Amino acid sequence: MALFVDSSDPKEIRDLFSWGVLCGVTTNPLIISKEAPDADLGERIRDVLKASWGDVSVELTTETEAEMLAEAAGYHAWDPDRITIKVPFSETGLKVLHQLVKKKVKTNVTCLMATNQAYLAALCGATYVSIFSGRVRDMGYDVRPVIENTRKLIDREGLVSKIIVGSIRHMMDVNEALESGAHIPTVTPPVLRKMLWNPRTDETIQEFNTAWRNRRKK
Ligand code: E4P
Repeated sequence: MALFVDSSDPKEIRDLFSWGVLCGVTTNPLIISKEAPDADLGERIRDVLKASWGDVSVELTTETEAEMLAEAAGYHAWDPDRITIKVPFSETGLKVLHQLVKKKVKTNVTCLMATNQAYLAALCGATYVSIFSGRVRDMGYDVRPVIENTRKLIDREGLVSKIIVGSIRHMMDVNEALESGAHIPTVTPPVLRKMLWNPRTDETIQEFNTAWRNRRKK
């Protein structure tokens, strides 16, 4: 089991990695457009690499096989051991994935909404397959069987892919992803911070500390 953070903010990432619970980062073009619209992508990702450890996913934004392979080569060069190329799922995406897998480049196949898609990506040898919890639910479907069935197929056939569950909107989505067999939930900083909190914990700590401060010494 592992936990990744879904962010491109180096300051936030450094702070959250100091908790000792994270071991990777996922980004996507929407996150980076919102968090740092004017940023140079290379500088931003290098800062993310410095602020973290483990794999850092960077998503392809081009749409033809040749363009995607050239884009992937550029990103891979930033840190061949840690940069993980996020490949949007499609027929072209699978062709690109196949080329990257042959070159032993780490890959994360993204925008998956169904087990059949995740199975194809896993069969092709993706390092990670990313199932989008919130977006599946937006369509009115239960994401849990998608995760469960993907995990069963990966285990049954001895495939190497790890299931990332992204598009997490609530703490409950993290619990359900883990219970359904996800290897790695990727959580936004606000969701990760909410995972700390429980009012009864805070009250209990206050009660203990107050008792200690007010103890009557003999
Ligand atoms: C993670 O890898 C995904 O890119 C991300 O979680 C998508 O989240 P969204 O559905 O909130 O855009």
